[in-house]
Amino acid sequence: MSLFLVTGGAGFIGSHLVTTLLERGDQVRVLDNFATGKREHIDLYHGRAGVVEGDVRDHALVERLMAGVDYVLHLAAVVSVPQSMRDPALTNDVNVNGTLNVLAAARKFNVKRVVFSSSCAVYGDNPELPLSERSITQPLSPYAASKLIGEVYCQTYYRAYGLPTVCLRYFNIYGPRQDPNGDYAAVIPKFVQRLKAGQAPLIYGAGQQTRDFVYVGDVVRANLLACEHPQASGRVFNIASGQGTSLLELAASVNGLTPQPIQPQFAPPREGDILHSRGDGTCAHTTLGFQPTMGLNEGLKQLYDSINR
Ligand SMILES: NC(=O)c1ccc[n+]([C@@H]2O[C@H](COP(=O)([O-])OP(=O)(O)OC[C@H]3O[C@@H](n4cnc5c(N)ncnc54)[C@H](O)[C@@H]3O)[C@@H](O)[C@H]2O)c1
Repeated sequence: MSLFLVTGGAGFIGSHLVTTLLERGDQVRVLDNFATGKREHIDLYHGRAGVVEGDVRDHALVERLMAGVDYVLHLAAVVSVPQSMRDPALTNDVNVNGTLNVLAAARKFNVKRVVFSSSCAVYGDNPELPLSERSITQPLSPYAASKLIGEVYCQTYYRAYGLPTVCLRYFNIYGPRQDPNGDYAAVIPKFVQRLKAGQAPLIYGAGQQTRDFVYVGDVVRANLLACEHPQASGRVFNIASGQGTSLLELAASVNGLTPQPIQPQFAPPREGDILHSRGDGTCAHTTLGFQPTMGLNEGLKQLYDSINR
C-alpha cells in the first residue's frame, strides 16, 4: 500500500485515478481548488480519500500535503485552450508555477515519482503524422506552452536533482464524468450528450478532421505504469492509440449507440482547430508496456451507458 497525492483529483481524469487507487487499497490525498473539478466526484470516494480544497500554487499547503507521499500524480491545471488564450498569465501561474511548486515539494520529501499530465497540444499543427516524442514541438496557445514548460521543468528536476519524474502527453481522452458543457467541451461527451437529448451531433467543418481518442481507463493504467517502471524516469511518453478517427466516423459510431440514428449537422469550421492529430505510442509500449486496450466503440458504449443511468 502506497500513499498517492493526486492534484486535480476532483477532475475528470483525476477522479478516475483516485477511484482506481482506492479500489487497489492505496491511500490517496487529493488537492483541488474545484475550478473545473466537481464536488460530486468527491462523493465517489466515500470519505476514503483525504480531500483538501486548495491551490496548487500554495507553497506551504503543497509542502504540508507532500509529507510522507510515495507518488505524485500531478493533473491540476488550467485545461481550457480558449481560457489560456484569454488569460495567459493565469495559465502560466497555475500550470508552470504550480508545477514548480509540486516538483520542489516532491524533491524536499524524496518522493519516489512524479507523473505529470502533459498534452499532445505541445505538437501544435505538425503535419508529420504519427507524432512521436521526437517530433518538433510548436505550441499554438499559452496552454500548450505551459504544458511544454512543465515538461521541461520535470526533466530538469530529474537531471539536476535526481527527482524521478515522468511526463505523459495525452492525446484526446474521453470517458464517463467528462464535462459535456461549454463551447469548447471535448467532442465525444458533446456528441453523446446531444444524442441522449435527441439532437444531431454538431460538426464544425466537413468532419474530415481526425483525432486520436484514448479511453480514460487506459490513461489511469498509463499513470500507474509510469509510477512503477524503472526505465521511465526523466522521460516523456505519448499516450495515444495510434489511430486517427475522423469526426464523421465518430458521429457514425456515436449514432450506432442508439436505435434511432440522427444525421450530423454541420457548422462553419472553428478558427484555430487543427486538421489532423495522431500519436505514435511506440515508446510507451516498449518502455512502460502500455497500450490502450479499450476500443472506441466499446468506450463510447461505456460512456453512453454511464449518462443518466
Ligand atoms: N482531457 C483531455 O483530453 C486531456 C488531454 C491532454 C492533457 N490533459 C491534462 O490532464 C489533466 C486533467 O485534465 P481533465 O481533462 O481531467 O480536466 P479537469 O478540468 O477535469 O481537471 C483539472 C483539475 O484541476 C483542478 N485545478 C485547476 N486549477 C487548480 C489549482 N490552481 N489548484 C488546484 N487544483 C486546480 C480543477 O478543479 C480540476 O479538478 C490536466 O492537466 C490536463 O491539462 C487532459
